[in-house]
Amino acid sequence: MIPPKPPARPEKVSLLKYVRLFRQDILSAQPAKLYRAWMAEFKTPFFRSYLINQPSLVKTVLNERPRAFPKSDRIGAGLRPLLGNSVFLTNGETWERQRRIIDPAFEGGRLRDTFPAMWDAGQAAVARLDEGVHEVEEITSFAAADVIFRTLFSIPIEDEIAQAVFSEFRDYQRTQPILNLAAFIKGPKWMPRLFRKRTRETAQSIRALITQLTCARMAQIKAGTAPDDLATKIMTTADPETGDTFTTEEMVDQVAIFFLAGHETSASALAWTLYLLALFPEWQDKLAEEAKALDGGCDFKVMSKLRASRDVFREALRLYPPVPMMVRETTCPETFRDRDIKTGAQVVISPWHLHRHERLWDNPDGFDPARWATENGKQCMREAYIPFSSGPRVCTGAGFAMVEGPLLLSMLVRHFRFETTDRSPVPVAHLTVRSKDGIWLKLTKRAHDA
Ligand code: HEM
Repeated sequence: MIPPKPPARPEKVSLLKYVRLFRQDILSAQPAKLYRAWMAEFKTPFFRSYLINQPSLVKTVLNERPRAFPKSDRIGAGLRPLLGNSVFLTNGETWERQRRIIDPAFEGGRLRDTFPAMWDAGQAAVARLDEGVHEVEEITSFAAADVIFRTLFSIPIEDEIAQAVFSEFRDYQRTQPILNLAAFIKGPKWMPRLFRKRTRETAQSIRALITQLTCARMAQIKAGTAPDDLATKIMTTADPETGDTFTTEEMVDQVAIFFLAGHETSASALAWTLYLLALFPEWQDKLAEEAKALDGGCDFKVMSKLRASRDVFREALRLYPPVPMMVRETTCPETFRDRDIKTGAQVVISPWHLHRHERLWDNPDGFDPARWATENGKQCMREAYIPFSSGPRVCTGAGFAMVEGPLLLSMLVRHFRFETTDRSPVPVAHLTVRSKDGIWLKLTKRAHDA
């Protein structure tokens, strides 16, 4: 059985149709040949973009010469009202300085300190669940937001401000229809003005709430009463090169991206993984058996026992990478596969297509968590697997997410069985890869809890 894959568009479509398809969903707007191509050029009267789908080219852009391929300003246009100068959008010196301050908070050792907060969020998620048919993106969004608030600010999602940020965020996403288009093509300079008034207003109110949290924390740090969590760590870390710490304003920008990048993506990945486990009950039973290791209580060492959960989560990130495409810009003339590319061209890297490349992967569209132990799986993991990107701009939260995902999955299937219903999800790419009409699953308690 092949898990859901969006329909590809016909090979030839008019520009108008392409733009229209694009606005609906960037995945189904692409032709099937991208699953076999090493590179594709998108030529229109207004812009040129190149989708690179060959491991060595992706390596050049992300790992070998990342400074020559910065993020384009235009991409940030839709997100800037919310994210300001966050590490997700900056380039050059500013970005390097921000990473020097943020990275230590996400190092391996700190993950161990963060673990109890993740564990509590997982337990709270299980306690909230009921038997019956549920939309699981809703469940995983709530759980992932809870993880972020607990690890960053030591508050649960039930906290009044946390609740308000979470619900304002949903409004923000609803006002973002044009983001897909802006992310892929080099839009005109006036593009930001197209963003609706409502989008700007929602962004402002989210930032006001985050500012309250950040100011309160700054006061606690000064008073010596701050909890030892990610926010305190980041706000007290000085840049090793200049000795500066983040100002409150800069910290608000970073919190906004941690919240956005940290909860949207994990929520998408967890929801798709639960769907895959419902489609493949033999894997779900395997995870439920393995999850008995959790009965020993909150201990970071348990992660080394949740191997099947990790492999399943990895496979879900391959088939449904939450960030389906990333865009960079050339800063000098380049030659890719004998083609001359001008300065200022958009270079699109598509985890979605690379992860399903027919000339690289065995059984590219199939669900096979055992693949990671095979030669082909190992080689593709090194060369064609980039759910968290790669190189210096790799996701700061990659290690965090690889603990959170397998842990929450194991906790959920330890207590509940997830089964498909008559509604099959259709993947579409909005801010992250989601299902068109949600992911509906039937939940029943597992026997030991009944
Ligand atoms: C399954 C979960 C996640 C996935 C698949 C994911 C994926 C990604 C990807 C692909 C990028 C690079 C985007 C680009 O270059 O355009 C990225 C960047 C980023 N992610 Fe994640 N992410 C996840 C979870 C998290 C978490 C939990 C956090 C923080 C708590 C986080 C924070 C960030 C930040 C700050 C960046 C910007 C890094 C930079 O540009 O230097 N992410 N993420």
